[in-house]
Amino acid sequence: MSATPAPAGAAGTTVLKDVRYAFERGTLRTILGPSGSGRTTLLSLASGLDSAMATRNVMSLSGGQQQRVATARALACDVDIVFADAPTGNLDEDTAQGVIDTFRDLAGEQDKRVVVVTHSQHLALQSDRIFDLRKGKLTELDSTR
Ligand SMILES: Nc1ncnc2c1ncn2[C@@H]1O[C@H](COP(=O)(O)OP(=O)(O)OP(=O)(O)O)[C@@H](O)[C@H]1O
Ligand SMILES: [Mg+2]
Repeated sequence: MSATPAPAGAAGTTVLKDVRYAFERGTLRTILGPSGSGRTTLLSLASGLDSAMATRNVMSLSGGQQQRVATARALACDVDIVFADAPTGNLDEDTAQGVIDTFRDLAGEQDKRVVVVTHSQHLALQSDRIFDLRKGKLTELDSTR
């Protein structure tokens, strides 16, 4: 997928270049990357594409909706993919860990696909696969760790 936001001036900005992304069941993935690298754009495209293409149920969570993570458990039986954008951004350590545990449980116990954008190395290190988005490219970080 590629994304070029509507140009404000003469030159547009290409945020994502030919990003390919496959979602695996039972996997918690995190996407790191600098601010403005296009992670929110990527999540929006991925959730939009996916729900348009298939009968999947998709849940999107943003930073202001951490409390809804608690309900992810209840909804989990109907949800195939959970996308979360910086879900632990404003949380204290214990609450953040509860959110991470919920994601791990959704992936590990309930075989869901969970994709989380974060700035938190701590969260990323608890995921199954870590990706880095920068300069329009999505790269998997050390998968042998
Ligand atoms: N609708 C839009 N029109 C023009 N530019 C946009 C639009 N949406 C996003 N951008 C630009 O695209 C780039 C990527 O934005 P995006 O919000 O996806 O980044 P991000 O990685 O989520 O950043 P952050 O870590 O701050 O949340 C930024 O340079 C942003 O300014
Ligand atoms: Mg963002």
